[in-house]
Amino acid sequence: MPKSIKIKTKSSPSSYEIRIGQGVLRNAGVLTAEFLGRMPERVAFISNRKVFGLYGAEVTSSVGDAGALRSVSFMGEGERFKNLRTLVDSLEFFSTASLSRTDAVVALGGGVVGDLTGFAASVYLRGIPFIQVPTTLLSMIDSSVGGKTGINTPFGKNLVGAFYQPKGVIIDTDTLKTLPPRELTAGFCEAVKQGAIAGKELFELTEAILRRRSGKDLRHQLDDRAFSSHFAEFLREQLKFKARIVSGDEKEASERTDALSRKILNFGHTLAHALEKVTKFRYFRHGEAVGHGIKFAASLSKNLGLLSKDEVTLLYDVVHMAGRLPAVAGIDPRDVFAALKHDKKVIDGSLQWILLKGIGEPVIVPHAELDRPAMKAAFKDIVRS
Ligand code: NAD
Ligand code: GLY
Repeated sequence: MPKSIKIKTKSSPSSYEIRIGQGVLRNAGVLTAEFLGRMPERVAFISNRKVFGLYGAEVTSSVGDAGALRSVSFMGEGERFKNLRTLVDSLEFFSTASLSRTDAVVALGGGVVGDLTGFAASVYLRGIPFIQVPTTLLSMIDSSVGGKTGINTPFGKNLVGAFYQPKGVIIDTDTLKTLPPRELTAGFCEAVKQGAIAGKELFELTEAILRRRSGKDLRHQLDDRAFSSHFAEFLREQLKFKARIVSGDEKEASERTDALSRKILNFGHTLAHALEKVTKFRYFRHGEAVGHGIKFAASLSKNLGLLSKDEVTLLYDVVHMAGRLPAVAGIDPRDVFAALKHDKKVIDGSLQWILLKGIGEPVIVPHAELDRPAMKAAFKDIVRS
């Protein structure tokens, strides 16, 4: 039986359900009809060839069996394809597939496919229904939930986009069996991020899963009942946390600076986005850059007298348990600090940093309150780690 988590936003038309379980892809057709309250006449899928090759047949036949006409478009694989060109291709695809506002779009893949597809769905005919079917750990616990959609531009990451909630999210944990180790590391880094800002319970649950994980991937472990039930609890708690934050602050209100503001989800992301940008979105997986970003924010918090040395060490250790991260040693910190200017978290001309004064105690600190030596020292820490 799939478990269900409800996202209840203040504007009730944008509330939706997440259905999570092993093997739920085979129910994709029935779930599509449930999410939309009827079976749409046409369903258009956006995926990439790799993910579609693994799961496309199962999802599309379920949707076909439920009575919809199906069409599929493939986007390129990787962060660099989350761009304007792919957006235009996707809109052309919707048009060629004759989609109307009563039809639906399904994003089948990781966060790249989900962000791009959601944005395309938000602007086509001023918005057509879309469903997220995330297949990476990162997209399951983070990007498929909360309605942030968008693309990268030459000026910076995710700078063009929309808040556009899906009609529903289908999470089949079995898809993680084929996820390569590097992508798992990236997903676990986002999980560590959510644990670090949520509180000791989620942090310790995440740490426990990382300790229990053996081998490079989850291919065999997810067949083990005890592990898969522990893992399912970890996923559900991660999702409940994300759901709680985005339900309370759907559009990341600029004026909010409290510890439940959606802004806290950007913990580790300020440096991460700059790292991704200076390496042209080709060197790091997004989650790997977040891993470095968590360590940087932890060191910075310590340098400002907010966080104890022991907590910084704990954060570094748990990030390292997520897996090996690509080195930052060859990257010039001056380029990284210059790239921060284009971060979308700039408000009233000032960047806002999410730092910690303890595990589960995020604080929002304006960039003006940081000094260069504290930032340089934090960068040195991540180079050395
Ligand atoms: P991704 O979408 O690039 O997927 C990673 C790789 O895994 C791809 O090569 C993909 O083809 C492959 N893959 C996907 N599922 C697979 C499976 N089950 N088995 C085998 N291979 C599989 O990367 P991601 O980490 O999922 O997402 C990163 C993106 O998410 C970034 O663009 C980031 O900005 C975005 N993001 C968005 C939000 C949000 O709130 N919208 C939050 C966090 C991250
Ligand atoms: N991943 C950040 C957010 O959803 O707000």
